[in-house]
Amino acid sequence: MKGIVLAGGLGSRLFPLTKITNKHLLPIYDKPMIYYPIQTLVDAGIEEILVVTGGRNAGDFLRLLANGKEFGLKHLNYAYQEGEGGIADALALAEHFAEGDRICVILGDNLVEHSIRPAVDAFRQQPAGARILLKEVPDAERFGVAEISGDRILGIEEKPSRPKSNFAVTGYYLYDESVWEKVKTLKPSSRGELEITDVNNAYIREGTMAFSYLDGWWTDAGTFESLLRAANLVADSQKPAAAPVTADSHS
Ligand code: DAU
Repeated sequence: MKGIVLAGGLGSRLFPLTKITNKHLLPIYDKPMIYYPIQTLVDAGIEEILVVTGGRNAGDFLRLLANGKEFGLKHLNYAYQEGEGGIADALALAEHFAEGDRICVILGDNLVEHSIRPAVDAFRQQPAGARILLKEVPDAERFGVAEISGDRILGIEEKPSRPKSNFAVTGYYLYDESVWEKVKTLKPSSRGELEITDVNNAYIREGTMAFSYLDGWWTDAGTFESLLRAANLVADSQKPAAAPVTADSHS
């Protein structure tokens, strides 16, 4: 399986932070944002990785990441998205890299506490199709929202004003090789983008979409509030665990 990190787009919700740099180069506590999705892929056992970026600062990714030595990688691949055509537009640039393999796609502004390896392993056992990772959130209207019935997923709505559930579709997507045909049929949405939600709904209509629930905390980092939350979550998770209270501690 190959890994793809999508780090294009203009990051306009973070303006003026993104006026002179790419959103994914901004700090999340002690590391640039792009480090987290790359580490998530490596922790899931995926080491052939493509970073799709764009905008005026694409060269900075190469200077920052080089061949990925900090992640124990020998090599990293890069692609350049012109403009901001949407998540699925950025994904389309990865077809050549995938060479017919299955792929694990991660949005460059998503951070997660625990490994996504269980979902990746479950997808490896699937005969075909796709798998998404869901997380219960208090503000579902900010995300793609899944309508679920038992162990079936009925559909996904992108940023609905009245969400049908509290389950957000997180930015971790596992696809088989049919994803490229699905991407080619997409039409721009009302916000002028090729939507990843339309790719996922194509798998749902076909009856080949599975899902897992994410353990631990999860956040995006594309707004001022979520950027701050991401930094605090990372900082908290790096604090040493409190020492167990013993009788001696009180003496
Ligand atoms: O974070 C999860 C959510 O991400 C999902 O629940 C939504 O279904 C999905 O559409 C997406 O929503 P956002 O509106 O938050 O996505 P955003 O435009 O912030 O883009 C997320 C990442 O995707 C961004 O950090 C880089 C990549 N991207 C985005 C666009 C628009 C690209 O590489 N190219 C693009 O043109």
